[in-house]
Amino acid sequence: MLEARECSLSSLGARRFLRIVLRVIILSSLLFLRATRAQDDTTSTDTAMPDKRSLTEEDSVGEYWGVEPYNLPAFDNSTAKNVSTQLGQTAFLHCIVDNLGDKTVSWIRRKDFHVLTVGTDTYISDDRFQTVRTSNGNDWVLQIKFTQLKDQGIYECQVSTDPKISFFVNLSVLVAEASIKGGPKIIVERGSSIELTCVISNSPEPPIFVFWYHDNRMINYDSKRGDISVQKAAAKTIISKLYIKDIGEAESGNYTCGPSNAGPTSVSVVISNGEKPAAMQHDGNSSPLNGVQTRTSLLWHFLLFLSLINYVTR
Ligand SMILES: *[C@@H]1O[C@H](CO)[C@@H](O)[C@H](O)[C@H]1NC(C)=O
Ligand SMILES: *[C@@H]1O[C@H](CO)[C@@H](O)[C@H](O)[C@H]1NC(C)=O
Ligand SMILES: *[C@@H]1O[C@H](CO)[C@@H](O)[C@H](O)[C@H]1NC(C)=O
Ligand SMILES: *[C@@H]1O[C@H](CO)[C@@H](O)[C@H](O)[C@H]1NC(C)=O
Repeated sequence: MLEARECSLSSLGARRFLRIVLRVIILSSLLFLRATRAQDDTTSTDTAMPDKRSLTEEDSVGEYWGVEPYNLPAFDNSTAKNVSTQLGQTAFLHCIVDNLGDKTVSWIRRKDFHVLTVGTDTYISDDRFQTVRTSNGNDWVLQIKFTQLKDQGIYECQVSTDPKISFFVNLSVLVAEASIKGGPKIIVERGSSIELTCVISNSPEPPIFVFWYHDNRMINYDSKRGDISVQKAAAKTIISKLYIKDIGEAESGNYTCGPSNAGPTSVSVVISNGEKPAAMQHDGNSSPLNGVQTRTSLLWHFLLFLSLINYVTR
């Protein structure tokens, strides 16, 4: 009786144990199947869409989710849209592109839709045109050397995105002109002083030098003759002043302002109470000094040049 009970008890325990083992096997195999199926799914996605994975690995999450990404090529809006240069000078047209990536930058002349440059390669036979990159690399500067009046107009900086994006620059070529205020004849009293003002217009950049001449002789800048100043009066206007004090017959005559970037202009200075015409009288006694004068002139011109550089870089 006890034995039979033990036997039935043991067989009961064995069956229950077997049932549990079976359940565990079924459950684990189900889990295993699900796991392998899931793995298959991901591997098949991977092989089908390799680009997306690489995209998500970069930080352009936007494109992956179909949202406009923030790092597409874009122009720097602060770049100058109106550029003016002086006839014969080199013009610099800037095009600053952020996040260019693998796209290219081209410059197109809109007047005739001529492609001038692609990247840094020139596509026009006129070798005055060239695109250079600045050291930080995102400014694609179109250089036009020895500018001519026909270079005026609109230039397009185009980036090869899809769709293409463009930045337009309007180039003006200016011809500088000089004139002396109060000309062509200025009458002054003996013993007084005058200030001759040479106005150089259409000159966005100061001339490299402004030379003054008295009857075809370059004036030295000693205290007897007075000072010469060069200053910016407006965005495109430069003024050069020549101060002459204690005017006598030696100071009368033809004064010429000769800036580096414009043709010369002259005025005639006449002494009011002088009976005889003073124009040519001092020429004779000034010629022996010419060598010394030229040398001091050169020194003064050099100083003037230095102060101009100081002025320009300020
Ligand atoms: C540049 O200008 C455009 C149009 O005026 C504007 O939509 C854009 O936000 C500006 N970009 C920057 C970087 O200022
Ligand atoms: C450029 O010049 C045009 C006309 O000459 C003017 O309308 C425009 O405001 C200027 N743009 C800038 C940024 O100075
Ligand atoms: C370009 O600039 C010139 C000179 O300032 C101006 O006369 C012309 O209207 C400008 N062109 C355009 C398309 O803005
Ligand atoms: C002054 O001299 C220049 C150069 O010789 C000459 O071209 C100009 O006509 C002269 N001007 C006057 C007002 O005498």
